[in-house]
Amino acid sequence: MSTNVIEIKHLTKSYQKLKAVDDLSFNVYEGEILGLLGPNGSGKSTTMNCILSLLNFDAGSIKIFGKEMSADAYDIKRQIGVVFQDVAVFDELSVYDNIDYFCGLYIKDKRERKQCIDDAIELVGLQEYRKFLPKQLSGGLLRRLNIACGIAHRPKLVFLDEPTVAVDPQSRNHILVGIETLRKRGATIIYTTHYMEEVEILCDRVIILDKGKLLAEGTCDELKTLVQIEEKVSVEIPKLDSSQLEEIAAFENAGDVSYHHQELTVVYRKGSQNLNELINYFNRKQISYNRIYSQRPTLNDVFLELTGKELRD
Ligand SMILES: Nc1ncnc2c1ncn2[C@@H]1O[C@H](COP(=O)(O)OP(=O)(O)OP(=O)(O)O)[C@@H](O)[C@H]1O
Ligand SMILES: [Mg+2]
Repeated sequence: MSTNVIEIKHLTKSYQKLKAVDDLSFNVYEGEILGLLGPNGSGKSTTMNCILSLLNFDAGSIKIFGKEMSADAYDIKRQIGVVFQDVAVFDELSVYDNIDYFCGLYIKDKRERKQCIDDAIELVGLQEYRKFLPKQLSGGLLRRLNIACGIAHRPKLVFLDEPTVAVDPQSRNHILVGIETLRKRGATIIYTTHYMEEVEILCDRVIILDKGKLLAEGTCDELKTLVQIEEKVSVEIPKLDSSQLEEIAAFENAGDVSYHHQELTVVYRKGSQNLNELINYFNRKQISYNRIYSQRPTLNDVFLELTGKELRD
């Protein structure tokens, strides 16, 4: 049996007439990385801030480590690390001193704290920047500092709100690997993002939010069974006429077929020889093509199927 670290029941939060979070219930289990995935404005940050008791909510209940969460539940808060969507560090303190400040709120013993800070610096890969001031850091390095400040005190439960938005690929990798390491050390992690690719790499379970409501919940594989797609085949093809397009659409397993900007896309509902069949068809008809590739359904397809719109920006 997995242990519940967070238990949320019927959480509702409005800003005036807008329901930012609408009757949301879900659990977070010990040791997992739970992805909170949803487009801009779907209520991810509001949900996170309600869980942390940083926002008052209108209805529902939130338990963390089996206890009712409240603004003054310091015994719970001590075990939590938060990395907010907006970077919040002190401009006049160095990388090391910033982490020292936040870590010092929880860990008073100097030697123990130094160990924690060194660990955090290594986790996010800021070894070369210990003495730098925040203004000397690039956007990606600053985000890594923000993360180090949030997790240096070795919390059991970590909240990360969009930690990779607008960071360079190298920093993004550092961040994703760092989060993996935290999980390996036993932390439970809530990871908020609108990047479905990250969720697929990182998260054990996913909750998809839209307009404050829970649309779907499960592992990536479970969510993908919600869409009736076996694979999507894409082909770069300079020329294809409408009768050929009709012939392809008539293939037994083919679903939606489209041809735009010299790219043919065939959605297959089932079958295992689809690519073969298509290539044979091209050869038979002497149709020349460039790249051809097959993709499994993505979480974007799930979102599209459930809402009729794209998850992407
Ligand atoms: N302080 C506020 N006052 C009024 N409305 C707000 C406030 N904060 C958020 N909202 C609205 O509540 C909804 C949910 O916002 P929230 O910030 O939780 O979304 P999000 O999923 O975190 O989005 P993003 O991906 O942009 O961070 C949005 O429609 C937003 O405009
Ligand atoms: Mg947000």
